[in-house]
Amino acid sequence: MIEGESSRSRKVALFVTGGIASYKACEILRGLQKNGCDVRVAMTEAATEFVGPKTFEALTAHEVYLDVFESSSPIPHIELAEWADIALVAPATANVMAKMAYGIADDMVSTALLACSCPIIVAPAMNVHMWENPATQQNAETLESRGVFLVGPATGSLACGDTGTGKLAEVDQIVSATLARLRASSDLAGKHVVITAGPTHEAIDPVRYLSNASSGKMGYAVAEAAAAHGARVTLVSGPVALPAPTGVAVVHVTSAQEMLDATVDAFATADAAILAAAVADYRPAVQADHKLKKGKEDLSSIELVENPDILATISKDRGDRIVIGFAAETNDVIDNAKKKLARKGCDLIVANDVTRADSTFGSDTDSVTLVGVHSETEYPCMPKAEVANVIVSELAHMLEPEVPVTDATIVLPVGDNNAREEEQDSTC
Ligand SMILES: Cc1cc2nc3c(=O)[nH]c(=O)nc-3n(C[C@H](O)[C@H](O)[C@H](O)COP(=O)(O)O)c2cc1C
Repeated sequence: MIEGESSRSRKVALFVTGGIASYKACEILRGLQKNGCDVRVAMTEAATEFVGPKTFEALTAHEVYLDVFESSSPIPHIELAEWADIALVAPATANVMAKMAYGIADDMVSTALLACSCPIIVAPAMNVHMWENPATQQNAETLESRGVFLVGPATGSLACGDTGTGKLAEVDQIVSATLARLRASSDLAGKHVVITAGPTHEAIDPVRYLSNASSGKMGYAVAEAAAAHGARVTLVSGPVALPAPTGVAVVHVTSAQEMLDATVDAFATADAAILAAAVADYRPAVQADHKLKKGKEDLSSIELVENPDILATISKDRGDRIVIGFAAETNDVIDNAKKKLARKGCDLIVANDVTRADSTFGSDTDSVTLVGVHSETEYPCMPKAEVANVIVSELAHMLEPEVPVTDATIVLPVGDNNAREEEQDSTC
């Protein structure tokens, strides 16, 4: 068991779907229980072809969720979704991944998964051709872009005789990922984090403004991730076309001055700030109170004045609080990020090259380097939800450095290690 965490709430809804690897869900369940988790199981009809619900009932001492209408609970799918701290789909068939990607809710498992607002982990297991099919690949990407965490699949020889990617990840890897995600869901508990997102609009007149191409997706993903890590989040948002993240207080602003005021206000009670907004550097010196008329008024040039520097202002008065800024660069990315870190006086800069097709404004992915005073960590291109999780995990570490979870701290059921030696049998 992870040291010092036995009393922490760890309610895992384990969703078992229909593949040969279904039996491994028993080992996963036992691994989670040995690490202090309370586990409840939901199964698809196909999964019951491979493992009997009685096995899971005996292991959990709880009724298995099988059918939305045939249950002792009046609304079983909502009961399970609201009970869970985390949902784990293991093994996940190609079919359930497709249903999740499209929001289909036609049985107990897919309906409960659609109702889950907790973090979701998916451990796919299937034949290599099913995994490599563009439909499955696209569904996996869709799920990842929404913050679903995929463990595996692994590569090896499969039960159907094929060799390739599609094997269920190792049991301890799945248990470890679930425990790590559970742990992350509370590592910012009690902390207040202020996040800025989106562009600002600097009015020229009532209908025209200066702005930039920021979509706000990164800042919104960071806000969602911080809330998932247990923080109280205030999101100061410029004008964007995004829905408010669940469990986050949103303050809507338009101009850089409004964003500064709202951020300073929220930061007064905060432990940290992550400033992801693309704030306009300049605003028109004069904002007309009526629509400027072409031909009648001079629109050929606009005099600009500099806007307040929100990152520098917040960093200056931060005391022992953490401030993280962003640097969207088009050249000399790391060099410019280091200079920005020194100039603004913040703790960390998230640097990205916005000329890259996979990291540009509005994209769903990003490739970033975290630049600290004495560190530089480069990450591969990832969905913005994952990048946000990396940034928020780093913040949690900066606020309260802890011993990382390692495989050595995970307790697996005695005797289950034989499963690791099996080359086949976990897919198709
Ligand atoms: C012997 C056998 C093994 C199967 N193994 C897998 C598998 O590993 N992964 C998978 O995605 N589908 C597998 N299938 C197909 C699924 O069972 C089938 O797509 C089913 O509709 C999935 O339903 P579910 O997603 O509701 O559990 C297998 C089918 C059979 C008959």
